[in-house]
Amino acid sequence: MAESKAHAIPRIVEASDQVSRSPLFKRFPVPRGYGLPPGSRVERGRTWPAPAEATRVKAFEVYRYDPDSDRNPRLDTFMVDLDACGPMVLDALIWIKNHIDSTLAFRRSCREGICGSCAMNIDGTNWLACTRFISDLETPVRIYPLAGRSILKDLVPDLTHLLAQYEMIEPWLHSKTPEPAKERLQLPEERRELDGYYECILCFCCTSACPSHWWNGDRFLGPAALLQAWRWLADTRDEATEERLDALEDPFRLYRCHTILNCTRTCPKGLNPGKAIAEIKRMMVERQS
Ligand code: SF4
Ligand code: SF4
Ligand code: FES
Repeated sequence: MAESKAHAIPRIVEASDQVSRSPLFKRFPVPRGYGLPPGSRVERGRTWPAPAEATRVKAFEVYRYDPDSDRNPRLDTFMVDLDACGPMVLDALIWIKNHIDSTLAFRRSCREGICGSCAMNIDGTNWLACTRFISDLETPVRIYPLAGRSILKDLVPDLTHLLAQYEMIEPWLHSKTPEPAKERLQLPEERRELDGYYECILCFCCTSACPSHWWNGDRFLGPAALLQAWRWLADTRDEATEERLDALEDPFRLYRCHTILNCTRTCPKGLNPGKAIAEIKRMMVERQS
């Protein structure tokens, strides 16, 4: 679904005054059809029956979108043989791809909650398909791609913008002191300051669930990039604290977070981006006082 030309925005906005606020009415009620491409309506798709020999069957409704066709997105129903696949939602998707419809597109790599690539919306919650038990889910299981992004195909969102925002926080060590002969040391308690942040796998479940990012994603960095920003601010080996804070001192980049905490509720690694954002705001206040 191509973004309408009227709403085209630069991929990355360096400063808030680069993009003016939309003069158009933006709050509910949204005028009918406003800003929505015609292909945004999801239609009822095809139903694929279970294999004849299957005895334990569960229905999966899966979002399908093919950018090369003129058709609207659709919701296909797959009857999955639970005795023939593993226990996780990702196992069911792999079974569907291997046995029913090889054109189904989704990302995955590690199958153990480490790479972050299988993030999707499962029964209304953003989560990793490889760490979500099928047995915990209602029937039918409804699977959509992460919200708030354009879709490349089926369950594969375009993450270009989110990764560019991640790059903006410069996620690497900045040092000014000469390089030590061996390594930059940390005390165990300094290292512990990174717990709860270094574990982020950049799945973007949190940013996709953030209402502030839905509305102002061109300028607000979102919880994933901000948690990473705090991870470097909290690192005692990093020597660019002032520069990092200067880069976040902007009405939108940081302060569009309204502490709604959808991000914290949905993080499949149990992290707390809302707290990381609050820590950055605290640091901002402390340096001004
Ligand atoms: S706490 Fe902030 S970043 Fe998290 S969902 Fe709410 S507005 Fe978004
Ligand atoms: S904070 Fe959690 S939800 Fe957000 S990108 Fe990191 S691991 Fe994913
Ligand atoms: S496949 Fe890597 S996190 Fe799910």
